[in-house]
Amino acid sequence: MHLDPVTLRHALAEEIATARQSLDPAWRDAVAAVPRELFLGPAAFRAAGADWLPVRRDEIGADEWLRMTYADRTWVTQVEGKDATDADGPVSGSPTSSATLPSLVVRTAEVAGLRPGQRVLEVGTGTGYSTALLCQRLGSGNVVSIEYDPGLAASAAAHLASAGYAPTLACGDGLRGCPEHADYDAIIATCSVRTIPPSWFWQLNGGGSITTTVSGWMLASGMIRLVLDDEGTGHGRFTEDTVTYMLARPHERPPTPVFFRLEGDRRRTRVDPGLLENWAGRFVAQLAAPSAQLMTTGSGVVLRDVATGSQAWTEPDGDGWAVQQHGPLPLWDQVERALLLWQDVGAPALTEFGMTATPFEQMVWIGSPEGPRWRLPV
Ligand SMILES: C[S@@+](CC[C@H](N)C(=O)[O-])C[C@H]1O[C@@H](n2cnc3c(N)ncnc32)[C@H](O)[C@@H]1O
Repeated sequence: MHLDPVTLRHALAEEIATARQSLDPAWRDAVAAVPRELFLGPAAFRAAGADWLPVRRDEIGADEWLRMTYADRTWVTQVEGKDATDADGPVSGSPTSSATLPSLVVRTAEVAGLRPGQRVLEVGTGTGYSTALLCQRLGSGNVVSIEYDPGLAASAAAHLASAGYAPTLACGDGLRGCPEHADYDAIIATCSVRTIPPSWFWQLNGGGSITTTVSGWMLASGMIRLVLDDEGTGHGRFTEDTVTYMLARPHERPPTPVFFRLEGDRRRTRVDPGLLENWAGRFVAQLAAPSAQLMTTGSGVVLRDVATGSQAWTEPDGDGWAVQQHGPLPLWDQVERALLLWQDVGAPALTEFGMTATPFEQMVWIGSPEGPRWRLPV
């Protein structure tokens, strides 16, 4: 007796609705209706230490594949541009596409406040699974989805057609929006951005909204819905969600060469480098030093700006910590100053953070627009 996908789909929908009692039942019904097994393709990656191991549907059997499909899990489908289907052994590097965990897709849609009849642009089609959920809820005629990678865009189109959905699909850089099918009532991104692309503002109807995760090169992340006012300025507050999506491709981190500690100016730190392990603390650090990438070592942290060769690294020093800074950018000074400001206002969680954004200037603030604030990179 084989597993029944319909039963598994309903169980997943119930699991998500039980974990989030406030979820609109229409999203639960959408999860119960969309056959996720049609979106995963013939293979996906499973993490194996630092590498990614392809798992094939025909090797593990139909039941195990269905169990994977209907777990509330993200399945990585592409690593460093290599599809799981084409991999014949372990692959190392960062994921570049995935089938996002269903609970996160519906959470993103819930934050976006999407309602039937609204016209939405989704950035990051991926496997097409989240697109199908949007079609199920809003009607295919109201959904436009854009994917950067042509191979993924083609497979998503096939997945969606096989499941009976017919949204408008495009292939290209969604950071430019999708002008040929604008205007939209809402734009939602299933990849994260370092800054809100100007085109998104210009392709929204009045009162439209942008829902995205704002992330950066320290991979700190916050989810936000910005609503445009009459002047076209977006306003919003970050949610409590400790979630992230992979960075939009043109916003990805530059490759980093092997790290060598370089001697530099040494001093005691004024804050614990361990604050960078805190969700909001790391977010603040990223706001203050947006060009820096973060590595944690067993004994401290390393900040690196590859464009200038600047680096800062911390180490235990007696009952505190010391930092060495090398190169033109004082990365630790930037981060430390911001962490002290954040601590001065009580080290709040991300729900106390908000954003005021136009195509030309985007500020993230704590408490109110007059509070401690940082400009996002443009
Ligand atoms: C987390 S995956 C999306 C998951 C997808 N929504 C799903 O449920 O299967 C992120 C996707 O965004 C795509 N992407 C990254 N940057 C993009 C960009 N600038 N424009 C459009 N798509 C982009 C990636 O190729 C990847 O497929």
